[in-house]
Amino acid sequence: MSNRRPLIAGNWKMFKTCSEAVETAGQLVKLVAMASDIDVMIAPPFTALAPVSDIVRGSRVSLGAQNLFWETEGAYTGEISPAMLVSTECKYVIIGHSERRQYFDETGETVNKKIKAVIKNNLIPVLCVGESEKERESKETFSVLDKQIKKGLEGFSSDDLETLVIAYEPVWAIGTGKTASTDQAQEAHQFLRSVLEKSFGNMLAKSIRILYGGSVKPNNIAELMAMPDIDGALVGGASLDPETFSKIVHFKK
Ligand code: 13P
Repeated sequence: MSNRRPLIAGNWKMFKTCSEAVETAGQLVKLVAMASDIDVMIAPPFTALAPVSDIVRGSRVSLGAQNLFWETEGAYTGEISPAMLVSTECKYVIIGHSERRQYFDETGETVNKKIKAVIKNNLIPVLCVGESEKERESKETFSVLDKQIKKGLEGFSSDDLETLVIAYEPVWAIGTGKTASTDQAQEAHQFLRSVLEKSFGNMLAKSIRILYGGSVKPNNIAELMAMPDIDGALVGGASLDPETFSKIVHFKK
């Protein structure tokens, strides 16, 4: 058993209006009130951050954002700054999700700039990495992961990365109902930890939480969490319903 504290995070993606988000968060706060030895986070869309913040304040549920822009402020129509997230009492920021890499031109370079901004503002980065189906089939999984980690974390010292969370999300397992097998996930997580160890040393590599994401459900969370290098989950679809997400949080029962 590692001494890493598990984190179960819900990425709500582009779902829920303000009133729907407030309703879901309110139910979730009650459902996970007794969960112990585990961190819980939800990342609603930007528009719902402030109202959801009022609901989760003082509860077991922390707030996360799904993205940000690295500049402090300025003429950047449509973008959200780190300080704006801090003002909603956001704690975590998801960076480099495969949907952003795929549809919104997120690159290793922009991911790196965003992580810098997150850390500078004392927010916790959740850096997403993962290979596509084609890359897995052509046995490029490890080289893709190596590149995504090294590029995303370029220029940081181990001290900068104390709070860093990594999310391994194989693109072929997102929203498809196909979960990576526990062995496939463990193998990738172990590899990611070895890359972190080579770049930032054993102490940091051992302490960083690596979440698995991709079709996580109440019926597969326990076997995933039983693997030595899996420290939690980044949940998409199954985080939208508070009862279902709460079952994932209570995976030990
Ligand atoms: P699903 O759980 O819907 O497969 O989504 C995973 C994900 O992308 C979380 O960030």
